Amino acid sequence: MTASFESRMAAYRARIERVLDRCLALSDPGTPRLREAMRYSALGGGKRLRPVLVYATGESLGMPLDPLDAPAAAVELIHVYSLVHDDLPAMDNDDLRRGRPTCHRAYDEATAILAGDALQALAFAVLSDETQFDLPAQTRLRMIRLLAHATGTSGMAGGQAIDLESVGRTLDVEALENMHRRKTGALIQCSVLLGAAAAGVTEGPELEALERFGADIGLAFQIQDDILDVAGDPSVLGKSTGADAARGKPTYPSIIGLEAARRRAMELCDRALDAIAPLGPRGELLAELARYVVSRTH
Ligand code: IPE
Ligand code: IPE
Ligand code: MG
Ligand code: MG
Ligand code: MG
Repeated sequence: MTASFESRMAAYRARIERVLDRCLALSDPGTPRLREAMRYSALGGGKRLRPVLVYATGESLGMPLDPLDAPAAAVELIHVYSLVHDDLPAMDNDDLRRGRPTCHRAYDEATAILAGDALQALAFAVLSDETQFDLPAQTRLRMIRLLAHATGTSGMAGGQAIDLESVGRTLDVEALENMHRRKTGALIQCSVLLGAAAAGVTEGPELEALERFGADIGLAFQIQDDILDVAGDPSVLGKSTGADAARGKPTYPSIIGLEAARRRAMELCDRALDAIAPLGPRGELLAELARYVVSRTH
């Protein structure tokens, strides 16, 4: 990773922290406990890859950062909600997230369910609120549609359902890929598409290139997540390792082996780089992000 890449990531991360803080103050959550649980889960941790992708895609297409704040916050709020629910006892039953106790451990299960519900609603409130963020109405509508599609049955929720039904089973690679593309890939691809939507790129070869890029890094991201569950360091990851095997989850390392999983992630990275080659130097930051997705240790 180059120093300029690192410093750009750090600047995007600092910016999204401020925007999320502001978004979380927009509504009154009813009880201090719910407010705290939402803030606990959303602030002060995480790689912020999805908002970084919104900012990087938008900037690569010539946009200033201001119109990218709402979609960047919305996609991270959805992601945080998905983590809070993913960690619940009814799902993965995890105790550690982003180096701290999971939301239901720090608070309680009912509060974690409600915090997730409210974070999801807040994501769509942020995208639709014309008093807070200045975006054309048609752009907002497109963003809401993209985010809903990536979050619901065709994306994250559908993928999580497959994940839970697959415990203890051996999936073939095609089914495993379908699960991963939905549960994780869809929201990562959506982040790229939100950046494109902000820039008014809604059709044509550039959009198709970004769609392919987003889909490939999205799948590669979950393959690397599976790899890190086997080969990562929990103190670096901020979550426990070995959990997938312990729960009998079908993953890339468990189905095709660790080395083949690494090769598949690299292949997807190369294909993502090919997809954005026509962007030329404008695609350089996205190319660095693709390489980061498959080389990250956290
Ligand atoms: C973890 O996502 C859950 C998956 C979808 C694999 P991240 O690895 O992006 O988690 P944070 O946001 O950095 O904590
Ligand atoms: C999570 O996948 C995907 C989500 C939609 C949250 P994992 O269950 O593998 O994510 P981690 O490993 O708990 O972060
Ligand atoms: Mg899970
Ligand atoms: Mg999990
Ligand atoms: Mg995992």
